[in-house]
Amino acid sequence: MAGRDKARFVCQACGAVAAKWAGRCEACGTWNSLVEEVAAPRPGALARPKSASRGIPLVGLAGTTPPPPRRATGIAEFDRVLGGGLVAGSAVLVGGDPGIGKSTLMLQAAARLAASGQSVVYITGEESIEQVRLRARRLGLAEAPVELAAASHLPDIAATLEARPGIGLVVIDSIQTMWLDNFDAVPGTLTQVRAAGFELVRLAKTLGFALVLVGHVTKDGAIAGPRVLEHMVDAVLYFEGERGHQFRILRGVKNRFGATDEIGVFEMTDHGLAEVANPSALFLAERRGHIAGSAVFAGIEGTRPVLLEVQALLAPNAGGTPRRAVLGWDAGRLAMLLAVLESRCGLRLSGNDVHLNIAGGLRINEPAADLAVAAALISAASETPTRPDTVYFGEVGLSGEIRQVAQAEARLREAAKLGFASACLPLRLARGGKRLAPPEGLQLTEIGHLGDLLASFAVAATARKAGKNTG
Ligand code: TYD
Ligand code: MG
Repeated sequence: MAGRDKARFVCQACGAVAAKWAGRCEACGTWNSLVEEVAAPRPGALARPKSASRGIPLVGLAGTTPPPPRRATGIAEFDRVLGGGLVAGSAVLVGGDPGIGKSTLMLQAAARLAASGQSVVYITGEESIEQVRLRARRLGLAEAPVELAAASHLPDIAATLEARPGIGLVVIDSIQTMWLDNFDAVPGTLTQVRAAGFELVRLAKTLGFALVLVGHVTKDGAIAGPRVLEHMVDAVLYFEGERGHQFRILRGVKNRFGATDEIGVFEMTDHGLAEVANPSALFLAERRGHIAGSAVFAGIEGTRPVLLEVQALLAPNAGGTPRRAVLGWDAGRLAMLLAVLESRCGLRLSGNDVHLNIAGGLRINEPAADLAVAAALISAASETPTRPDTVYFGEVGLSGEIRQVAQAEARLREAAKLGFASACLPLRLARGGKRLAPPEGLQLTEIGHLGDLLASFAVAATARKAGKNTG
């Protein structure tokens, strides 16, 4: 062991190993991320005698294996993102900012499963037993038969779990607090997180319980330590949302047992996280019609259509570089759209500060939002409200053309369901393509170019400018 105690420096952001300390990681460029860790036995070498090697059976491609058993937690929004429930023997990483509600959600899921007769163990390495009990009381779950422990020494936890057959679910809150003593690094470092994760995943597979690892994410959105676990676990879910908003989104980014891109929507209340079965209605609840700079986007999150309000505000720039403040959308995409509006449609916004916000705190990644953002911008520029009963979707190309997007009919159905009367969408070119079958009562306005949208606001940008200069 003495000969192997060589110091090495591990980047906590990407896992690169350096022989000597430097201010900046050479592999990923992150500053101040190198931490000294002592080279130690390989992860997983948890003082276990080496078993004798034996042959492994090789099988053909044909043949069937029964699907692994799933346990629905009973929290539908959580189960949806999981792809139907927790799979026995699998590991799920739940990442998110501190304070976003990970422990709350996991305690609720644990209590539900326990109440349905499963054996559930909740290990907290961050809070005291009393703190968890307090939360359970507040959530009205104090009676649920969850077995609780405050521990962070992994060998103790492993021994405890191994001594109890038939556990259904184990929650580790959080993986960053777990440690093994044959590593010199402090808990939370890559070496410890990787080793603890490996050991827990191995336990889940051999003992057959579903494992949930809670992991904290750094401010910039990267799961710094737990990132190294992403390839080890079967599913990675991110819990996100703006701290000041009550909405929380659980987003699947990897799932070996289901679809990714699925979202679960929750609302943080006084009694914990409440499921939001109809997110569109909630996201639009505070919308005020007839205000310039607002447009409703008919989006798709995973398999589910979601209507969202896009808000744009233009302010005269006081001098210097104009501000581009974006919440919930991609700043590069906004820059592209502003350039297209200026170069292809003659709408100059470069002298303005532009603020763009997706109301409700959801983050949109779809290019289909382009048309709604453009509508909000044009509406703000022309000081003309969009029709409050209209939804928008479509991708904008660099020449200003409006491009088709997937799942148009699902978007239209959601709009009709929520009482919208019309939709502004990409023109279906006469390519023999399938005609859209819009829901009854929904009027379609198909447009081929961003210029058509601008024209529909009936106020030419130049005329508005002239009016402003005299007024
Ligand atoms: P928590 O689950 O501790 O977050 P994490 O584990 O991700 O760090 O949630 C913390 C926040 O949630 C805290 O600011 C208080 C709030 N909260 C509620 O609003 N209502 C509740 O019923 C609970 C339990 C927490
Ligand atoms: Mg917590």
